[in-house]
Amino acid sequence: MKNNFWNENVEQWVQVIDSMGIDSRKITNPAIIQAISDNKLKSVLDVGCGEGWLARSLPEDIQYTGIDGSEGLIKKAQERSGHLFEAVSYDDLKSKNWRPNALVEGVVFNFSLLDEDISSTLKSVSEFLLPEGKIIIQTIHPCFKLPTYQDGWFIEDFKTMSVDFKDVMPWYGRTLSSWISEFEKSDLRLCQLIEPRGEGLPTSIIFILKSVK
Ligand SMILES: C[S@@+](CC[C@H](N)C(=O)[O-])C[C@H]1O[C@@H](n2cnc3c(N)ncnc32)[C@H](O)[C@@H]1O
Repeated sequence: MKNNFWNENVEQWVQVIDSMGIDSRKITNPAIIQAISDNKLKSVLDVGCGEGWLARSLPEDIQYTGIDGSEGLIKKAQERSGHLFEAVSYDDLKSKNWRPNALVEGVVFNFSLLDEDISSTLKSVSEFLLPEGKIIIQTIHPCFKLPTYQDGWFIEDFKTMSVDFKDVMPWYGRTLSSWISEFEKSDLRLCQLIEPRGEGLPTSIIFILKSVK
């Protein structure tokens, strides 16, 4: 993460999630739950889990662990459900300072791959997968939702929301071909691509990947 945004805006983010302040979440939340269910994942590591809404939304028989670099959001997640949550940054994953207690059937990134370097993060989490395990990434649809169709840093100021965020959130956006080449660099094979949509153009994209190592 390039700044302290996710520690400085814990209350604001909780408010946004609780009030469904991001309209597209009406489409994207059920879509990620459906992808986990369709892939019959019985154990999930939620990377960049935020305040932990996904843990509270999945069936109880799914073994869930959530990690996030924001200590504030992890504290909130722990207060909000009895699932296992730990404060872990992606740098901790890359430097092998953290592993889950057991290998998992699925690793999920729900709008949480915001860094420029994603291949080393993806390679690190691939090691946590059981054979045949899947990595599921949901992100904004690159073809329809990128501010300009190019790789690069963008700024989200959340100004369209009624919640008053401190500072802005930098995030690295990439084109569809750039996502695909990151997967290749990470020794991942694309098994399925989902384009969740309400009315009109797709809202997001979900990549379902398998390790080829
Ligand atoms: C847009 S929020 C999404 C949160 C959650 N997945 C959800 O669906 O509501 C992005 C989350 O990713 C986490 N994150 C992004 N980059 C990270 C990094 N390099 N290390 C640890 N956490 C990171 C942030 O702390 C934040 O909680």
